[in-house]
Amino acid sequence: MCWIFWYRGKNDAVKILLHGLERLEYRGYDSAWVFVKKQSWDKSRIRAVGKVSALNWKVTDFLDAWYTQWIAHTRRATHGGVTEQNTHPHISNDGNRTIVHNGIVENYASIKKDLIKKWYRFDSETDTEVVANLLEEIHKDSKSMLETTQELQKQIRWAYALLIMHEGTPDTMIALRLWSPLVYAYNSEGEQYFSSDTQALSGYADKMIYLEDGDLIKVQWNDYTILSNGDVTKRDIETFDQKILEASKGEYKHFMLKEIYEQPAIIKRIYKWRVSFENNSLHADAFHGMGNESIKQITTVACGTANNAGWLWTYRFETLSKIPSHNEIASEYENKPFFLDESKLHIFVSQSGETADSLEVLKMLKEQGGKSFGVVNVVGSSIARMTDSGLYLRAGTEIWVASTKAFMAQSMCLLLVSLFLGKRRGMRLSKYQQIMRELEHLPSYIETVLDQTDHIRSIAMDLMQYKNFFFLWRGYQYPIAAESSLKFKEITYLHSEAYGAGELKHGSLALISEEMPTIFNLPNDEMFEQNLSNFQEIRARKGKICVIGDKRVEEADRQITIPETIDEIYPFLTAVAGQLLAYHVADLLGNDIDKPRNLAKSVTVK
Ligand code: M6R
Repeated sequence: MCWIFWYRGKNDAVKILLHGLERLEYRGYDSAWVFVKKQSWDKSRIRAVGKVSALNWKVTDFLDAWYTQWIAHTRRATHGGVTEQNTHPHISNDGNRTIVHNGIVENYASIKKDLIKKWYRFDSETDTEVVANLLEEIHKDSKSMLETTQELQKQIRWAYALLIMHEGTPDTMIALRLWSPLVYAYNSEGEQYFSSDTQALSGYADKMIYLEDGDLIKVQWNDYTILSNGDVTKRDIETFDQKILEASKGEYKHFMLKEIYEQPAIIKRIYKWRVSFENNSLHADAFHGMGNESIKQITTVACGTANNAGWLWTYRFETLSKIPSHNEIASEYENKPFFLDESKLHIFVSQSGETADSLEVLKMLKEQGGKSFGVVNVVGSSIARMTDSGLYLRAGTEIWVASTKAFMAQSMCLLLVSLFLGKRRGMRLSKYQQIMRELEHLPSYIETVLDQTDHIRSIAMDLMQYKNFFFLWRGYQYPIAAESSLKFKEITYLHSEAYGAGELKHGSLALISEEMPTIFNLPNDEMFEQNLSNFQEIRARKGKICVIGDKRVEEADRQITIPETIDEIYPFLTAVAGQLLAYHVADLLGNDIDKPRNLAKSVTVK
């Protein structure tokens, strides 16, 4: 996955580009470059493997020059290793076409084979260079650059956001989008931008256009045309009203910690828009599209952390809303039949709203006439626009690559959806009131867990010496154990596995020893006693146990104590404890927490 940022205007382009790239850093990448061009014979690719900072010294020669084209890009390797040669932009053999690409061209191998037969040579291992040379090949038969690009659209299979420059039309930039995000933006000063992420544009552009799948846009100075399936089309022009991105860590050592600590405030913000504690009610407007009494089945669809949030609330769609529900991992679900009927609702959960696997399912579902609801953070993102209706998370920009506060906001929005549906389907009033009461206390409960950060760090000091971990669960704690284990893997790089406490005895108990500690989600709920038996099985095999729970478990080696609450609220607290545990172990191990390896903020390839 790569991130594109293109600028044309009268200001210091290299500075703007580097600033844009720095803002996109949170998305994860392994190489970066800037491309500048004055004349066809005077163009430079300045490429660096590693961080954007590695580019800084390389671009000094270009800071004062007057260049007419500037593009910057970060790359996270998909085709070919992390080398300067594989870094974009890629240029066609005749030197006339320069291409930048985000996405994966799935049929690149067969195209490359054909091109090699026609004596094209390749300097990189990328699918992007194949597109550059395919354009050169198509151009031989076609009249204009536009016609060539339209033919290209027919020949390459998704996914892409592509920027194409051609020496013959130096004032024109052509861009295409299919399943990879791309925004065209401009301002009253006549400055123009392309970006894969609106964050990079904040403070620069006033107006922006979200390109849609299949769109081709031709941009000239102060003018642009959008074509969809060959016809000129209009897209909405949105006013850019997002505040300048708050990219500061403030008093916190890492963005991860800052975002973990923001969680109580985010929950209060969600309440402000969705809940009225004075009247003990939910703001019905916020749930439009959810009021339909005919919903008889819910399927949540998502990936990674968002999937854990969706999965968690399938338990409550069943117990509170009395609607049979299940969860599907998007990358798997696209290979199964949907068994659609009028009464089935699919809920898509996503922070970025651009995750390729989820989008693929949504697209297939729409083609088959299925109903969809989005629970999404990024306003105007593809999932937000494609679902029939939905809720925005209102979690603010999540900078840290691995998700924490978005998970909390997703969980809260889904709990509110389950309450909203439950109330319409005869949920007991006393249960509803109990949940509302506990919801009001939730921000302070989370603060109680956050206050234990030093204690959790001391537990992390014990745990950091081990290499393998179990995160145990029973019942509704399963998705939380899965999420804690995912966070742990993502930043500590240690192996962990979420496992059913009751299932251990059926085989995996074989792994328990002094060398394999267990993190046991053990709130004082109706499964507490059953869980204690499993606890003893581990103790009997000398396994070390760290309990996350509200009731003191005397025999636990270590315990993170969470406030006493109800089953619907415990997951928020055990999740925060899991986040802090992962953070402290990773920090003590000296890992680069804000730039974890091999992760991208939004996964726009399949
Ligand atoms: O943007 P999305 O919520 O759709 O992203 C889904 C996953 O890729 C994402 O949650 C991923 O698992 C994160 N690395 C989790 O920390």
